[in-house]
Amino acid sequence: CGIVAYIGSRDAVPLLVGGLQRLEYRGYDSAGVAVVGRNGELRVRKAKGRVGQCLADLPARFKGSPGIGHTRWATHGEPSDANAHPHVAGTVAVVHNGIIENADELRAKLAADGAVFASETDSEVLAHLIARAQADELEEAVRQALQEVVGTYGIAVVDAARPDRIVLARNGSPVVLGIGEREMFAASDVAALAGHARQVVHLDDGELAVLEPGGFRTFTLEKRATTKLPSEVGLDEESYERGEHRHFMIKEIREQPAAVARALTGRLDTRFHTAHLGGLNLDPREARAVRRVKIIGCGSAYYAGQIGAQLIEELTRIPADAEPASEFRYRNPVVSPDTLYVAVSQSGETYDTLTAVQELQRKGGRVLGLVNVVGSAIARQCDGGIYLHAGPEQSVASTKAYTSMTVAFALLALYLGRIRDLSPDAGRRIANGLKALPGQIERILAQEDRIKEVAGALAEYRSAFFVGRVRGYPVAREGAQKLKEISYIHAEAYPGSELKHGPLALICPERPTVAIVPDDELLAKNLTTLGEIRARHGRILAVAHTAPGPALADDVILVPKNEPELDPILLSVPLQLLAYHAALALGHDIDKPRNLAKSVTVE
Ligand code: G6P
Repeated sequence: CGIVAYIGSRDAVPLLVGGLQRLEYRGYDSAGVAVVGRNGELRVRKAKGRVGQCLADLPARFKGSPGIGHTRWATHGEPSDANAHPHVAGTVAVVHNGIIENADELRAKLAADGAVFASETDSEVLAHLIARAQADELEEAVRQALQEVVGTYGIAVVDAARPDRIVLARNGSPVVLGIGEREMFAASDVAALAGHARQVVHLDDGELAVLEPGGFRTFTLEKRATTKLPSEVGLDEESYERGEHRHFMIKEIREQPAAVARALTGRLDTRFHTAHLGGLNLDPREARAVRRVKIIGCGSAYYAGQIGAQLIEELTRIPADAEPASEFRYRNPVVSPDTLYVAVSQSGETYDTLTAVQELQRKGGRVLGLVNVVGSAIARQCDGGIYLHAGPEQSVASTKAYTSMTVAFALLALYLGRIRDLSPDAGRRIANGLKALPGQIERILAQEDRIKEVAGALAEYRSAFFVGRVRGYPVAREGAQKLKEISYIHAEAYPGSELKHGPLALICPERPTVAIVPDDELLAKNLTTLGEIRARHGRILAVAHTAPGPALADDVILVPKNEPELDPILLSVPLQLLAYHAALALGHDIDKPRNLAKSVTVE
């Protein structure tokens, strides 16, 4: 979910609506705003649906400041007008991200005390708790309310009876303050602040903030004042706009050559054929002592992690593997001091990944972060890391951040390899391969029209297989993921070798296969897989370096060849265009696929 807040002399409403639109990728089930009007009355508008629909025809008198807003991704209670935020009790309005775990208990207590609830949400209890707190200052009322609460939250609170301030608090869900000229902003994500705030301040867990037009104060739940250093963030408004592109997703796909070039800038050492990674916080002696690498992430970040594990194992000969962060933290994993843990995340806010990092650190694990959003929770929590520098990613389906993750893993593998037993020659080979990536991605993008045609044909089917082997398998998984996310075509990825152990039963003319067929040491085996599929009359789209020939594939997308270890990075790119154009042909809402949110900051 996304939250925004504004206090200052301007009318908050357009600022809140604009901010919410920037945050919609965090959830778009319902939206709402609350502002304090000129006569001190609380005005609230909220509804099920997109920000644009819910807040379209606000009456001219719907104005005021301060104000708060919310765009929701439903957890407790289905998307509905009543369950939309802000939630109101008396003169108090609250927007909340996160989950209040003891909501049922608090609700029963409040109801017994006469509180009347308007929604099924856990968040509404916050509004009632704050409204009932015995305190003169709003911040003290919020603080007292939060003492009762067990769970996670990022909240913004206004009170029409105390309209000179907004109170915010964070525990597990991000809150960023934005400093303007005699006005203050806040949001769950800097995207909403771009173009408005000059500087930003990230709240830490257990912190509250009071915003007044002229400035802010922060303090802890225990009332201890805290000192925050505002940071300048590259808040370039344009990078958050869609520009001439039809969707954010296609904009971000097309930005990949530049994103990859940025991820590499200043990081390749041409003298020693290694990588410079200033933020790793891991000296060569410590790096040499690493016996195992464990990568954790969710969704596309997890698949990028699988490619990363393969790269690390190949280039460093350190055993490496990737696991979904959510699974990892719940199975009481063995945490050992000679394992290097790597958390990978675009947003740096994914709750499952963040809590897995915290669990690791509690047990003495050292965790590096591969993160895109600078200053995000995971970036700050980790012991060191690599920023992706992919720029803001807004489409729910990750493309450029995913690709930048794989590039960052290649840099990490190169660095670790070169302080162990990777030869200078092999280092040079990989470094040159990395340098070639942006140009090669351009060449893939130049085939968009051709891929669009193939995607149109794929869109006719209800279900598809994606197969690949070893390096190609995570590519197949991410390709299937992209197709599922935005086209809603059922897609399942399998290692090519496993097809004959079960899924072959499902191969038929109605269920095509997208096959990842690089020219590597497994080419012959991959071609055998294609033969097995063809023998069962399955249609095949090959994503390959060399066309397998019409006897083995109905369609081919050709991808430029790099070094075998780096090929997965390029093979993923046409699959993004394939998913995009299949979804476009089906008329889906590509940047906001149903049921999904870009950043899942709840469990
Ligand atoms: C959500 C998104 C996915 C994304 C995953 C991890 O589930 O829908 O597209 O890959 O979160 O996000 P992160 O920000 O941690 O990379």
